[in-house]
Amino acid sequence: MRKKTATLIDNETGKKYELPIHHGTMGPRAIDVSRLYADSGMLLLAPGFLSTAACRSAITYIDGGKGILLYRGYPIKELAEQSNYLETCYLLLNGKLPSKKEMAAFTDIISHHTLVHEGLKGFYNGFRRDAHPMAIMVGVVGALAAFYHDSTDITKAKHRIISAHRLIAKMPTIAAFSYKYATGQPFIYPDNSLSYSDNFLHMMFAVPCEKYEINPVTSRALDMVLILHADHEQNASTSTVRIAGSSGANPFACISSGIAALWGPAHGGANEAVIRMLESITSKKQIPKIVARAKDPKDSYRLMGFGHRVYKNYDPRATVLREMCHKVLEELGAGDQKMFEIALELERIAREDPYFLEKNLYPNVDFYSGMILKAIGIPLNMYTVIFAMARTVGWVAHWMEMMSDPDLRISRPRQLFTGQLPMEYRSIESRGDGKSCLFPEDRPE
Ligand code: CMC
Repeated sequence: MRKKTATLIDNETGKKYELPIHHGTMGPRAIDVSRLYADSGMLLLAPGFLSTAACRSAITYIDGGKGILLYRGYPIKELAEQSNYLETCYLLLNGKLPSKKEMAAFTDIISHHTLVHEGLKGFYNGFRRDAHPMAIMVGVVGALAAFYHDSTDITKAKHRIISAHRLIAKMPTIAAFSYKYATGQPFIYPDNSLSYSDNFLHMMFAVPCEKYEINPVTSRALDMVLILHADHEQNASTSTVRIAGSSGANPFACISSGIAALWGPAHGGANEAVIRMLESITSKKQIPKIVARAKDPKDSYRLMGFGHRVYKNYDPRATVLREMCHKVLEELGAGDQKMFEIALELERIAREDPYFLEKNLYPNVDFYSGMILKAIGIPLNMYTVIFAMARTVGWVAHWMEMMSDPDLRISRPRQLFTGQLPMEYRSIESRGDGKSCLFPEDRPE
């Protein structure tokens, strides 16, 4: 039988190192280099973690080449079309689909944790009305630790589960309050008789003086967006949550760090950036120019909603949402048809262009999610907040998996040092009068 090892030969010293190879149930094998530094004094260099498996995980599987995404073994398309968000949450957290009884108990628990402490509402007043709701989310979710002390003993499995339930349940309330605060409308309390998505829509759009009717098309579309964003293995925000959690930080602080990482336009902020990009294109004639800019190596401009670190084929979430996008625009008759047509034309041109084909740049989930959210009336600056709401279950599932992993150690990457050799300190008087270099433009060439 062949040995399950790989041999690393250091040609500088002539030394050889036998490294164990691990097999997952599916996907690439992994070379175990955890002892490499201790044995050889050498580090691995992988900027952006391009070839690094940072943990073992049984939650989500992606085959980027084939465009496959499975939550706990279930294909994303089947879940998006047949499940609902809360059932998907149960699946991600518990590793199996619930029975009727289990689902009823889970729904009961989540719906009875939707209220936030009244004192937490005071936090909102500290923000400017024009604050980006993601800024509010980072602050308010982090502040939860100050209100729910009874579930922050992370050494206790029960506390971890209670925190998980609280986060999933309270996130829509916190998110909707951030919108209400910006619009100057009164906060609308959760209605526990509603489904997860309906309750969010109710807290977003109801006002005390009028009855709010939930459109089932809107509700279904939102639920599908939530399912498709619920988890995505070791992406930037999930890795951030894991790194924060590895130090023993409380779950509310960890999820707040995940929200911060998600905010960037290369990650969760892309859905907002896609709409801003599409809004800037007023006619199909402008598209070739936009595409040319995205291809120009001297221009940092990118086509938002295209490309993915892992998918080198079509993003399976985008396939589902593309269909949903058609349906929503048709059924709601929203005035976004022109934008959708521009988007489809952009997609067509990009998918025929050798630059995009060679670099495997396909539309990703955010290319369509923004259009759906726009059609169902969600304001632009809430798109990434909705992504955060959906991804909370993924973050929490990974945090719980990590916390019960016997291999858990604080995440502490190393570096290849490229800085100054040791220097001798000289007094300020003896250093001469250099030019100010506080800002890049002041620095000598
Ligand atoms: N438009 C034009 N060129 C692109 C794009 C794009 N959207 N994305 C990547 N490229 C080029 C990039 O310039 C580079 O070219 P070269 O090889 O000549 O240097 C090459 O493709 C590889 O790009 P990369 O940045 O090294 O790839 P990455 O895996 O580090 O980044 C990405 C992936 C998603 C950050 C990137 O594709 C991107 O910035 N896309 C636009 C933002 C976006 O839509 N993000 C949402 C991702 S899906 C939601 C989520 O899961 O968070």
